[in-house]
Amino acid sequence: MKNKILVTGGAGYIGSHTCIALHEAGYEVVVYDNLSNSSREAINRVSTLIGQTIVFIEGDVRDDELLREVFASHEFFGVIHFAGLKAVGESVAKPLLYYNNNVSGTIALLEVMAEYDVKNFVFSSSATVYGDPETLPIHELSKRSCTNPYGQSKLAVEYILEDLAISDKSWNLIALRYFNPVGAHPSGQIGEDPNDIPNNLMPYISQVAVGKLDKLSIFGNDYPTVDGTGVRDFIHVTDLAQGHVAALSYLEQQISPEENCLNTAIAKQTSAKSGSVGFLPINLGTGKGTSVLELVTAFAEVSKQPIAYQFVERRAGDIASCYASADKAQALLGWQAKLSITDMCQDTWRWQNMNPNGYQAS
Ligand code: NAD
Ligand code: UFG
Repeated sequence: MKNKILVTGGAGYIGSHTCIALHEAGYEVVVYDNLSNSSREAINRVSTLIGQTIVFIEGDVRDDELLREVFASHEFFGVIHFAGLKAVGESVAKPLLYYNNNVSGTIALLEVMAEYDVKNFVFSSSATVYGDPETLPIHELSKRSCTNPYGQSKLAVEYILEDLAISDKSWNLIALRYFNPVGAHPSGQIGEDPNDIPNNLMPYISQVAVGKLDKLSIFGNDYPTVDGTGVRDFIHVTDLAQGHVAALSYLEQQISPEENCLNTAIAKQTSAKSGSVGFLPINLGTGKGTSVLELVTAFAEVSKQPIAYQFVERRAGDIASCYASADKAQALLGWQAKLSITDMCQDTWRWQNMNPNGYQAS
């Protein structure tokens, strides 16, 4: 059985947690990352946590020559494609960078995969493809629309994957649409390490709690939500990581239901038939919405630190509420999120406390 997985962007936040989950599920992992938004230290720590040196290749997904070398020297079952740039504000300022990195990078990777006949692909998509949702919870068939180049780059890749699946039935293409990933590995050894002042809520809160930042600005308190602040579907990054394992198990089972499934529990839960998956979008969320103020309160309780905040104007481009229907993931992959908001705050706080400067201090 081929169980080797190429993990692009595997040194990053979600990728590093997924490497651990993959190893625990019996997969062999090769990480390919240009370290543009991550550090070698994350890979070192993942190796320590799993008790085995991770195979790491420093490279860019747009470097098709290097990719060819990698595919020529390993026999992969499939690819999990995390590599991408993700800062919405930066994407507005540098759209070409985002389209080049996220869209051209994915095309280069898919072309090399085709050359080597590796056609199982799990793509990091995002709830951002739903734009401002018309109804909640958000289902996979909800209308897609985006308002910024980052979101457009994710949507563009989804369209490319759809066309690819139509053109050639041997591709198996899963787009996992993540809601709001937060939290860290329970060891406190790996977590989210923003380069600069964080754009996202959870790392901002934790840096206020640890004393690195003075106070949180809450963007708007006049939304039509439970307390006027924005509502999001926060999902623990280790639950998200398990979602990738479930997606791979699903692919294995589709391709060869009986002998190829590492996770027999999932094999039993789904009634798969041999054949191609085509393009399959799946939400990874908890199905529950939590407001900004609710998250601040939960974090203050867990950390026993006051979280100073002020209300400011709404942030341009933000929506009021966003949470997933997670039914499809449950039905097809046998996956559901298990961890609570308290777990997410506890694990973020442990990581923040043990690594006040992220990976830099080591
Ligand atoms: P991250 O920045 O921590 O990880 C991305 C990794 O990809 C980094 O290690 C970076 O160095 C690498 N990378 C970027 N461009 C590359 C390239 N051209 N070649 C090789 N490596 C490259 O981000 P993350 O939070 O772990 O996100 C992973 C994926 O999930 C991204 O595609 C992101 O858009 C998507 N996503 C993230 C979120 C989120 O809130 N974190 C939500 C939805 C979707
Ligand atoms: N927020 C604040 N203050 C902050 C940061 C955020 O009040 O300093 C609020 C936002 O207004 C929003 C909520 O906290 O109501 C969540 O904001 P985040 O920036 O943490 O997350 P978003 O939902 O805006 O976006 C994130 C990722 C996107 C991804 C999207 C859906 O940043 O890339 O989730 O997956 F597309």
